[in-house]
Amino acid sequence: MLQAASRAVFHLLAGSEILKRLASRHGMAYPEGFARRFIAGESIDHAIQTGRDLQSRGFLLTLDYLGESVATVEAADAATREYLRLLDIIVASGIERNISLKLTQLGLDVDRATCLDNLRRILERGGLHDFFVRVDMENSPYTDVTLDIVDTLWRYDYRCLGVVLQSYLYRSESDLERVLLLGARVRLVKGAYHEPKSVAYQTRGEVNAAFVRMMKALLDRGHYPAIATHDPEMINATLAYATERRIASDRFEFQMLYGIRRDLQNSLLQGGYRVRVYLPFGQQWFPYFMRRLGERPANVTFVIRSLMHER
Ligand code: FDA
Repeated sequence: MLQAASRAVFHLLAGSEILKRLASRHGMAYPEGFARRFIAGESIDHAIQTGRDLQSRGFLLTLDYLGESVATVEAADAATREYLRLLDIIVASGIERNISLKLTQLGLDVDRATCLDNLRRILERGGLHDFFVRVDMENSPYTDVTLDIVDTLWRYDYRCLGVVLQSYLYRSESDLERVLLLGARVRLVKGAYHEPKSVAYQTRGEVNAAFVRMMKALLDRGHYPAIATHDPEMINATLAYATERRIASDRFEFQMLYGIRRDLQNSLLQGGYRVRVYLPFGQQWFPYFMRRLGERPANVTFVIRSLMHER
């Protein structure tokens, strides 16, 4: 309940241009900008450097070039070209070939066909170099169209493609059946947006219970599922179920966000589990950053402390 309320507040603040300008001035200052805890940096070079470091310690990676809600065909095309450039840079760098992206960054708000074609361009190039492309899930008005686009491209034989399902949405358990039939990989998350009661569970207990049901279905019938959470209760439930069903640790992976619960990331890795770190970078970091604050309002104290330190 409390988390839903804090999400609502941070969702509102995320729309504030003044706050965005203020944050942009201080958040990415090197090396102590407060947003650096969650974001690798503004340039691809920063992301590659951080990625190399994580990989050398045994982590798997997925890189996210931050951006969402573009409003014109030109901006969607620019983001797509930037992703194509990123693919080439990743290949040259030798780090793992795995990216995550958002469909509103590729023009979903402009029109479905533009977005589908932009994603197809990325999959086409990615397919040549063995990339895996994960389509992040945005807020509920985009759920249907996101699943439809993934479904369409999958049927056109673009198989290096995966999707995300959010346990807070009532509909997700039936969406899971659809994706399981399709055969695509699923990343299971709780869900990061402010959603109304008409579409989403509002209590932590209900969201967690749905998460556990979906985790079990994925471990039993999924295709190399990703269990993406920092919640020890969800992680322990996953470990217990995998042990009970004798599911080997290489048949699924855990995923966590860069900068969050590094202690847990390390202990799972040391326990022999696969852990993928979601590594965001780019200049459009403000909405992503605000979602991280909304998940844990205590992070605000950390931001204020960094700002005072800067003075
Ligand atoms: P929960 O919120 O219960 O947190 C459990 C514990 O983790 C907290 O007690 C705290 O210790 C720590 N923690 C969690 N968030 C923190 C934060 N911001 N700062 C500091 N500590 C924090 N969502 C979505 O809607 N679409 C998507 O595509 C994705 N993609 C995605 C990829 C990956 C790899 C991850 C890990 C998560 C996502 N998410 C997402 C976000 C997800 O929906 C969810 O909002 C966050 O993971 C927080 O939920 P937890 O499962 O961690 O549990």
